[in-house]
Amino acid sequence: MTRAGTSTAVITGVGAYLPPNTVSNHELVERLDTTDEWIRSRTGIARRHVISPGTTTADLAVEAGRRALKSAGHDRVDAVVLATTTPDRPCPATAPEVASRLGLTGVAAFDVSAVCTGFLYGLATGAGLIAAGTAQHVLVIAAEAFTTLIDPEDRATAPIFGDGAGAVVLRAGRADEPGAVGPTLLGSDGENADLVAVGTSGGARRADGGPLPREERYFRMAGRQVFRHAVTRMSVVCADALTAADWTAADVDLLVAHQANARITSAVADFVGIPPERRASNIELVGNTAGASVPVLLADAAADGTLRPGHRVLLTAFGGGLTWGAATLVWPDVSPVL
Ligand code: UT7
Repeated sequence: MTRAGTSTAVITGVGAYLPPNTVSNHELVERLDTTDEWIRSRTGIARRHVISPGTTTADLAVEAGRRALKSAGHDRVDAVVLATTTPDRPCPATAPEVASRLGLTGVAAFDVSAVCTGFLYGLATGAGLIAAGTAQHVLVIAAEAFTTLIDPEDRATAPIFGDGAGAVVLRAGRADEPGAVGPTLLGSDGENADLVAVGTSGGARRADGGPLPREERYFRMAGRQVFRHAVTRMSVVCADALTAADWTAADVDLLVAHQANARITSAVADFVGIPPERRASNIELVGNTAGASVPVLLADAAADGTLRPGHRVLLTAFGGGLTWGAATLVWPDVSPVL
């Protein structure tokens, strides 16, 4: 049982894994009607990591999970939460396989599906397991083989997305400890579900029993509309998370925002009042790794010294669903493993 006063989730480790194969804008230009200049200026992306044939979400998740556990300095947790848009199979969830491959057979393990907000939903879920006394230690992984959903001929999405995984280890602790996860705000708007969607392969089409037209097989995004929703939702939820934490924008040492598009991050940070030198970014070399982007950025920023122990951090994300979220925390003294 969780003892009174130790029901807050505290981050004790962080890790990330990006598959070694990369695709530059110049390689994309060879097969798509686009330019390096367009992709860089409209998204901030120069390169993305892409899985090799045979690699799956579980492989990415296992590697990121192993690294986070190494960072935390132990190999036991009571639960594994896997946020992913690309589970290896519709049934069962991918998390139990990931847990077993990490030597954790027997622990609670399940998937969370919130597209690009997946990590924040997973973090809140892990923190909830700790608050409820269900678990003392939780491994929260966000892993995406997102390029498996992408139409290679769609210039509106192919330049944006990449594959990768990030993870954190949580333990039961106190709210005043470094690493304590602060108020976490989550939201959704299913009325706009069609703005970011894969048309088929889920239960709705299976129930129809109809054939799968090519157009519906791949991920589609109404970019301009999604852009506007992303800016508005993340701006508002960031402001609300600051209020909930009793912080102002001036208290934030680093904004760690979902790496959807460099222009989206700038607009959100401008709205919230966080200057450029206090915005973490890795989108240029990583692209948009959907739900994995926040923990991958945490690991990258901690590794390059942008994120340091004691820093007050504002996390935010937005994605399909639509879904969004934000959380605050004070960064602990942990060594990331990448
Ligand atoms: O990860 C969470 C969810 N995702 C997001 O939050 C992403 C949100 N959306 C975006 O990041 C941006 O909307 C995109 C990067 C997807 C697109 O950028 P945009 O500035 O919104 O471009 P647009 O869709 O308004 O298109 C502008 C023009 C269009 O041409 P016209 O109609 O002005 O002649 C497009 O056909 O750019 C054209 N275009 C391209 N041109 C060259 C669209 N994609 C490309 C391309 N290369 N790859």
